[in-house]
Amino acid sequence: MTTFEQADRLKQIPPYLFVRLEKLSAEKRAAGWDMIDFGIGDPDLPTPDCIVEAMCEAAKVNANQKYSSSQGEKDLRYAVAAWYKRRFGLDIDPDTQVCITIGSKEAIFNIAQAFVNNGEMIIAPSPGYPVYSGAATLFNEAKCVQIPLRKEKDWLLDVDECPKGARMLYLNYPNNPTGATCDVAYLKKVYDWCQENGTILCYDNAYSEMCYDGYQAPSALQAGPDCIEFGSFSKTFNMTGFRLGYAVGNPDLIAGLKKCKGQIDSGAPIFIQKAAIAALELYGDDGKLPKAIADNMAVYAERRKVLVDGLRELGYKVDMPKGTFYVWFDCGKNSTEFTQEMVELGIIVTPGTGFGGQEGYIRMTVTEPVERIRLALERMRRGSYQ
Ligand SMILES: Cc1ncc(COP(=O)(O)O)c(C=O)c1O
Repeated sequence: MTTFEQADRLKQIPPYLFVRLEKLSAEKRAAGWDMIDFGIGDPDLPTPDCIVEAMCEAAKVNANQKYSSSQGEKDLRYAVAAWYKRRFGLDIDPDTQVCITIGSKEAIFNIAQAFVNNGEMIIAPSPGYPVYSGAATLFNEAKCVQIPLRKEKDWLLDVDECPKGARMLYLNYPNNPTGATCDVAYLKKVYDWCQENGTILCYDNAYSEMCYDGYQAPSALQAGPDCIEFGSFSKTFNMTGFRLGYAVGNPDLIAGLKKCKGQIDSGAPIFIQKAAIAALELYGDDGKLPKAIADNMAVYAERRKVLVDGLRELGYKVDMPKGTFYVWFDCGKNSTEFTQEMVELGIIVTPGTGFGGQEGYIRMTVTEPVERIRLALERMRRGSYQ
């Protein structure tokens, strides 16, 4: 068979972390093991029925079976703007400040396509969502400067450690993988630094609705209008497979994103955008989490507590996260070694090094029911699968 060599830019991308993990667990599963999976951040709970029904109804309508526009359907853009008003108290122009995206991942990549020239610098947190330093940087022949997030600083990126002259800075709270959260005062400090240094703030707010204990995540746009924020239907509404997100922010940044998308994807499927309108309409005028989503979050909150308490009983130092569905802790040894030991217990976890950052940390996603979390903790206590 003829072999085809990948382009240099693709060769530079490390194998996607979860592909390796999936292979490891697939081998065990094939051998009949019951693997308890805390690996990938994909909600196990179903998409609320009303959203699925809205999508099915919309898919039957001929007008919804056609190309969308690269900026997204007008009614969804208006629904996103109205949601920003209810949720964050912000006035957003749906015509110039909103673009619907195919998941927030797409926007994270395309914003760099649209605004970063070859050789320019992009700042990304480390540990951080791998796409910032991966596709967003490497596909654009840009240079990624990774700034460490540190436990002593509550995993908040410190702009005083960032080099001047960067074109773009990616930031994400509630944070994957650490579960750390921030407030508007912190965002204002980052925003001002970006303004002073001519750096575009790209704020990844994919977990804005996944919060606990009364905490409500802010929007970067509360710090100021001249940045871009990415949101997602994936985690809030258990809609990862629908592939839908939004970008909101400065009109020039939105226009660049739209132009880029016009060349690449022609927009998300219209019937999925209609389902997203039904999702946003679940929110009342007070902007509080709707019941369907609050019920979901109560499930994650309980699982999170069972896992954190159990890990603490096993002697690990673990913080109780205020956001996301990730539990991040110091495993006291090399994280790849720890991950492999866990596979031998029938447990899938993610080594922190997969997100960059320092050695010794593990991420566990609470996408298993409570009784399976207890079973995993029991296996860890025994130090054996059975
Ligand atoms: C921090 C962060 N941003 C963005 C995404 C992408 O989400 P989606 O493309 O499903 O909206 C993820 C997914 O795990 C994530 O963890």
